[in-house]
Amino acid sequence: MRFEFSAGLLIHKRGPEGPLFLFLRREDGFLDIPKGHIEKGENAREAAIRETLEEAGIREENTDPFYRYDYRIWFLYRGEKIKKKISVFLAETDDDVKVKISYEHEGYVWLGYKDAERAKLFKDERLLLKDVHTYMDKKEEMEKLNVDYKAMPSRHRSWRLSGRFVKGEGPVNAKVVVVGQAPGAFEDAEGRPFVGRSGVLLNHLLELAGLRRDKVYITSVVQFFPPKNRLPSASEVNACRSYLIRQIGIIKPRLVITLGNLSASVLLDGGRVMKSHGSVVRKDGIMYFITLHPAAAVRIKRNMPIIEDDFRKLKVLVRELHVA
Ligand code: URA
Repeated sequence: MRFEFSAGLLIHKRGPEGPLFLFLRREDGFLDIPKGHIEKGENAREAAIRETLEEAGIREENTDPFYRYDYRIWFLYRGEKIKKKISVFLAETDDDVKVKISYEHEGYVWLGYKDAERAKLFKDERLLLKDVHTYMDKKEEMEKLNVDYKAMPSRHRSWRLSGRFVKGEGPVNAKVVVVGQAPGAFEDAEGRPFVGRSGVLLNHLLELAGLRRDKVYITSVVQFFPPKNRLPSASEVNACRSYLIRQIGIIKPRLVITLGNLSASVLLDGGRVMKSHGSVVRKDGIMYFITLHPAAAVRIKRNMPIIEDDFRKLKVLVRELHVA
């Protein structure tokens, strides 16, 4: 048996009624996306970008940083069984992009979701398109929510948090969501969640649980920095709470990891995490894993083995739920 690795790019541009996706017509009439072998020294994303340039004449390096669709096929070639893993990335291109196909294809077509349903596609490409449809709808919903959330300081006359919105980060179709308390000074400066010392520790803890940071969605109860790192007030938490609930509603994860007292009390029925850490609560079809906030272990060293043990325990649940 031989293993092969391929990568492809699903390119889309804006159409009058929604996105249009680029398909290349094969000799047998089936439509395919630009894709091919991953060469030595390349990663999957680089291969997808190169193949798109070679097969469609489009240099599109601006791929969605969080979208990736992996699938496997197998076939016999000269009596040998070949197992192939294919990784597909997603990229939006300019509306007036010029396509220049190579000798490998007979033509090309831009199709919306509806037309693609009727087109000659392989089952895997149909499933890919379905997954992309869900992803792009969620992304649009999240972008709308973020626009509204970001404008919050301008709607409150006595705003006491930072004016900089630290938006959630990760795939909007993630199976795992991580919820912290509120951004710190580093996050406020960079505009990204968990990039300070707690963030470095969080990356390590996610690894202990067998999770990759770029595959989980990271957010916080309050997404504006409370000056001097104070606890957000009850009214600030109240104002932000519905945005957190809506984020989880858009993503529909299987697992939510609550970091610290605030996120556990906002999402669940409270309790102190020093008592409940390491436990799992099932609510509305989602599993909630309760643990300490990484900042508690950064500040107080004796908390480090406690939080590390929690994330080792979490690894078992991550495996059971197939959410890695
Ligand atoms: N701590 C949090 O709770 N959230 C962040 O985004 C960063 C640190």
